[in-house]
Amino acid sequence: MAKYLVQKSNPLSGEVEISGAKNAVLPIMAAALLSEEECTLFDVPALRDVDVLTQLLTHIGAVIKKADTNTLNIYTPKINTYEAPFELVKKMRASFLVAGPLLARTGHARVYMPGGCTIGARPVELHLKGFQAMGAEIINNEIKSFVEMSCDRLQGASIYLDFPSVGATENIMMAAVLAEGTTIIENAAEEPEIVDLANFLNKMGARVKGAGTETIKIEGVEKLGGCKHGIIPDRIETGTFMVAAAITRGEILIKNAVPDHVKAITAKLIECGVVVEKTDEGLLVKGNVNPLVSTNIKTMPYPGFPTDIQSPFMALLTTVEGSSVVIENIFENRFMHVAELNRMGANIKIDGRSAIIYGGRPLQGAQVISTDLRAGAAMVLAGLVAEGTTEIAEIYHIERGYENFVEKFRKLGATIIRIDD
Ligand code: EPZ
Repeated sequence: MAKYLVQKSNPLSGEVEISGAKNAVLPIMAAALLSEEECTLFDVPALRDVDVLTQLLTHIGAVIKKADTNTLNIYTPKINTYEAPFELVKKMRASFLVAGPLLARTGHARVYMPGGCTIGARPVELHLKGFQAMGAEIINNEIKSFVEMSCDRLQGASIYLDFPSVGATENIMMAAVLAEGTTIIENAAEEPEIVDLANFLNKMGARVKGAGTETIKIEGVEKLGGCKHGIIPDRIETGTFMVAAAITRGEILIKNAVPDHVKAITAKLIECGVVVEKTDEGLLVKGNVNPLVSTNIKTMPYPGFPTDIQSPFMALLTTVEGSSVVIENIFENRFMHVAELNRMGANIKIDGRSAIIYGGRPLQGAQVISTDLRAGAAMVLAGLVAEGTTEIAEIYHIERGYENFVEKFRKLGATIIRIDD
């Protein structure tokens, strides 16, 4: 299995270009199943997850061509099967996002349950609640662990989400755009990726209003056409490089970052003493102006502090004097990186959904693993400031979600190489 070797590096400096957002392109690719006409997607990040979803959509009937590294042409003249097979769904839980489009276009969907992952059980009952409210009959076959749904034509409905689930909001939106009548989603997720999906659907001829707020209204239409759409920059990649500037006490210009999408991360970095300046090219982040201090983090649905930056930020907090408290409110098991950071000499105690970081002790290089996509990035950040060499295994997690990860860090002065066993 491939590994990263990371060595203590000088403060990072220079500029980095942010790629298209993984968590925007995945639902948008699924939404392309809703039209027989061609959709062209620009700024698509070259990621393992995009490749996996390409395989699944092709299996279903989509014709997908890479016009270039970051441009996809997708059209689905007809749906060959309404089944998302286990061997594809198991590779990526976001595959469950084909359920809504399949139900909307064919009146049928059989999707294997994505199953949990290291950060949590990842149930989908909120997705199913929305589909049922719209008239779908759910056959939840526990034995075969797939969900089968059918419906002649979905009917508009009013749906309240017990939790502002990103995936459930997206799946219900994609089901509702071709339903008969109007659907209202209350307590909807407000993430920028929801807005990007809504913009894409509206370019196809859908009528989605209110995306980015807690109430989204979708008026069903008969048919959707093709369109051209550029994927928004990845706010989590942006946050990762913002924290990289802070932890290495460096200075990085993060080009084409969207400041509005990283307000919570910016506020917390400023609380730690990091300088963040908006420029016409993006965000200039300086970890080398003030001595950095501790702060407390509470992950919340957008626009609160994003759970996906919790582990990178925790790596930073191990390097500042004083104690910090991190509370993880989104996923029930997203502290797997704590044990790995403690192996590097950090002093972090877990108490339920809280982690207390006693910062300031220098980190030591060690053999660690990447326990999820973002925790892997956190281990790289820790390795950049730890004495000696840090060897990071299971880096496939990282390469699922960060385009040209090693190249981007090396260009900023990081000492990191990828080795294949
Ligand atoms: C999306 O996952 C992202 N993935 C995640 O990013 C991100 O961490 C998460 O949103 C929260 O922001 C993609 O967009 C592909 P949720 P999603 O449904 O949609 C519970 C990354 O690193 N829940 O908002 O699965 C769930 O268990 C990944 O890029 C239910 O209980 O997130 C979790 O505790 C990791 N029932 C919480 O809600 C449901 O039916 C948030 O889940 C659905 C969700």
